[in-house]
This record gives sequence, C-alpha cells and structure tokens, in this order.
Amino acid sequence: MSWHMNAVFYELYVRAFADGNADGHGDFIGLRQKLDYLQWLGIDCIWLLPIFPSPLKDDGYDVASYLGIHPDYGLLEDFMMTVDEIHRRDMRILVELIPNHTSDQHPWFVEARRSRQSPMRDFYVWSDSPEKYKDARIIFIDTEQSNWAYDAVSGQYYWHRFFSSQPDLNYDNPAVQRAMQDVMQFWLELGVDGFRVDAVPYLFERDGTNCENLPETHDYLKRLRAFMDEHYPGTIMLSEANQWPKDTLPYFGDGDEVHMNFHFPLMPRLYMALARQDRRDVVDVLAQTPQLPPNCQWATFLRNHDELTLEMVTEDDRQFMWETYAPEPAQRINLGIRRRLAPLMNNDRRKIALMHSMLLTLPGAPVLYYGDEIGMGDDVSLPDRNGVRTPMQWDDGLNAGFSTAPTGKLYAPMIADPVFGYQKVNVAAQQADPNSLLHTVRHLIHSRKQQAALVQGALEWLDDLPPQALCFWRKGDGQHFLALHNLSDTPLTIELPAPSATLTDALNPEAKVTQSLTLPPYGYRWLSQQA
Ligand code: BGC
Repeated sequence: MSWHMNAVFYELYVRAFADGNADGHGDFIGLRQKLDYLQWLGIDCIWLLPIFPSPLKDDGYDVASYLGIHPDYGLLEDFMMTVDEIHRRDMRILVELIPNHTSDQHPWFVEARRSRQSPMRDFYVWSDSPEKYKDARIIFIDTEQSNWAYDAVSGQYYWHRFFSSQPDLNYDNPAVQRAMQDVMQFWLELGVDGFRVDAVPYLFERDGTNCENLPETHDYLKRLRAFMDEHYPGTIMLSEANQWPKDTLPYFGDGDEVHMNFHFPLMPRLYMALARQDRRDVVDVLAQTPQLPPNCQWATFLRNHDELTLEMVTEDDRQFMWETYAPEPAQRINLGIRRRLAPLMNNDRRKIALMHSMLLTLPGAPVLYYGDEIGMGDDVSLPDRNGVRTPMQWDDGLNAGFSTAPTGKLYAPMIADPVFGYQKVNVAAQQADPNSLLHTVRHLIHSRKQQAALVQGALEWLDDLPPQALCFWRKGDGQHFLALHNLSDTPLTIELPAPSATLTDALNPEAKVTQSLTLPPYGYRWLSQQA
C-alpha cells in the first residue's frame, strides 16, 4: 500500500512558519528548525504552499518563475537541504504544481503580450471578444467581473479564471503541456514526494461548456501521471478539484490519474452537522461519495489557507452557514468564510477536539492547517484571505518566537487579541501543558496510526441513534473500529452495538468500557475490536 493512503498531512506557508534570518519573513532556515516539532506532532507529509518567485498578489499562486525559490524564503540549496532534513525524519514533502495560470510577471506572459506575433503568444488564451466561453462561471466574484481582461499592449483580451493578474495557460498548445511536465520533473529531481495540483478543473476551455472537468483535462493529467509512475515511482498528485463527488471521481481515472483529491463537499457538512446537532448532512454526503479505485484516497480537511468554501452547498445551507459561522460581513469572502477553526468554534475546546476526532476517523487521509492544532485565531481586518495566514505562534516572547526582526518588519501582524493572541495561544505553553489542545490533537494523530481500520475500512453508520449521535464503525484490515461523537450540548447515552468486553478504548486503554456509555456534551470516544 502506498504511503499516501494513510498519511497525516500538514499544510503550511514557509513565509508564515518561522523566520530564520530575522527579516520578518518565514524561510527555509526557520522551517528546518521546526521539523522536530512536526515530527513530534506525528505529521507524515508536509505540504508547502507556493514557494516560487512571485509578486505575491495571490500569495504565490501567481507564479513568476516555476524553477526557483522566492528570495524571501532562501535559495534553491536551502530548499534541497530542507527536503533532506524532512526525509531524514521519515516525513515526506509535497510542493505546489500550479498548472492553470502564471503571474502576468512571468517571462512567458511578458513575452507573449509583447506582440501578436510573439513566439510565446500561444502560451496563453487570447480573444478579440470577451464574449467567448460565456458559460464559464467567475470564481473570485468579489474582485472580478469577467474571465477576460483587456491587454492594451497587444489589443486583445486574455483569459483568466482567477485574478486578472493571473493569465491562464493555453493547454491546447503542446508546448505548454510539455513545459508543465518539465516543471514537474524539475521538482521531482530535487526529491519531492509529489504535488498538490492547484485548480485542475480549468486547464482547457471549450465553447458551449462551463470549461470545467473537460475530457482533455483528464487526458493530460493521465499523461503526467504516467510520466511520474515511469520515472518517479512512489510520488503522488493530490489535486484540488472543488467539485461534487461524482464530478471528482473521474480525476482518479481507473487509478491512473491523480492519487488523491480533496473532499470539498464533506468539509462544510461537518460544520453544518455540529451547528444543527444532527449527523444527517454528513451521512448524506458520504452516501453520495463513490468507492475509489485501488490506491486512491480522499484528502479530508477542516480548514485551509483559503476561505471555508461554500461552493458545494445549497443556497439555503450557504445562508445557514453564513448566519451561523460568519455573522459579520467582514468574515465573508466570495462564496465562503474567511475564519480559522478555533474562532469558528467560538474557541470551545470541546468542539475543536470533536471536529478533529471526526476528521481523523471518517474516511480519507486528514490534512491539518498550520496553527489549528493550537487553536490559533484570525484577523479579518487583513485583506483577502490574509487573516488566516498570520505568523505561527511559537511562544509568548518577541513576535511570538516567529521572528527576531523588529515587529514593524513582519510580513503580517501577529494575532494579539486577548483571546487568541500569542501571549495566550502558543506552542510552548501548550507543549508544557499535558491537557492542552495541542496534546489532544497530537494524541488523536498518534492513536489514529494504531488503527488499521481507519486506512480503508468500510464505513457503517449506527443508524438507530438520535440525530445528535454521529457514530460509526470502520471495518477492515483485521480490525473493527467504533467512533462515537456527540454533536450536542447535552450528555448522550449510547448502548454499544457490540459486547463491551470485546472493545478497548483506543485513546485511553485504561478506561473502562461499559455497555451503556454516556458521552459528555461534544464528547467523543474511540473503541476498537479485533475482527
Ligand atoms: C488556491 C488559492 C488561489 C487560487 C488561484 C486556489 O485554488 O488554493 O489560494 O488563490 O487557486 O491560484
């Protein structure tokens, strides 16, 4: 079985994690110093958000060169040393592959827009009219009015699915297809274990379609996969297709396309279930989640670097989520919510732990977002999604131990409010306190690894329980695992579906398992049984 099936992933911004050279920006020197922490936490694979040279109008998703490192983060040698240090600790590393678009500062685009005769012109998608591909939706609805932007230099419109400063590459051009495979090869040669592949649904455009999930996109991804399998076996692609499960399934092909894709529709339903004290939304979405081909896995998550997207819920549910979790307009962006996990949970430790318990026991490989393991807060006064990308809070000293630069030089202000400020919420304090959230999350991660059934075990709900009980078996690999979650604010008593004598508490082997169990408000238990 490939490593990705059972890995615990951790998503981080190099810029936000630790500053090793005191310039106010996180870098690879700093990251290397924190690898022991990630190993201690139980992380198997680190996913680095974009690290490439970039004007940072979209925090690095606007790539100005695919074959280098942003100077704030260090040199290529720094990156290579970091890869070695990660591997030395038996962890793995994913970097971003951003195939859909570049920055308008990328030399390809600078050259392409120079004139209509430019040899690079066909690297991008041009039109005389902004009416083409009308059926494609706009993704960044708060900032963009059209998927076309007029280029005054060459007198035509260019196509962009995200910010207008990010022109889309033209995948009908074989040279673009080859160039992106070369990019992939460059990073694989440096030893990365794979890629989080950004925004995959949008690679090709076709008139009369919504320009998403086109067959041509799948053919191209399959070719990239074949290339990886042939030359770099064991490396993976984790794609970002924010789609309904049936539309996501084709991205796995017959096990010959991507290895993993995020389960976007599940994520908001975990929040809905908790707010409604009712498991049904989660049960329904997993019932509509198809079986994956062998050696394929869902990546599940609670939060990430973007807004908590509500693209995959109904209009009614979106309004419910906004009213419940983002009552203030400043907390909303596009079709989502720009807040972190702990503030979304009103900083209620019980709920934060419960959400982690569901994440770590439901099907899929979990992806944690840096800082959520200590319950970091957010800052909605910062523009765009920057409020959930503030510096990691290591201790209660100068700049939270993130940087020794003068505070005014930090790339972003620290969270310093009375509830979530680094004086209160930081790694050092929580490492010293065995009852902290950090220790709870770490314990859940390490305990998960003991449970073979959690890798691919079939999901079986305990149906005849009240709605606030989110309880299920995972059965497989010689083991039965029983997860019990109480979504409500009152205690919940459950009659176990198997003789209590056959069950062991998987989080606390000393704890007594009684036939009738009472979960406290927002409580959870993990029980395991030999099959
Ligand atoms: C990334 C975003 C980014 C967008 C455009 C996404 O899917 O997760 O952070 O803004 O791609 O590159």
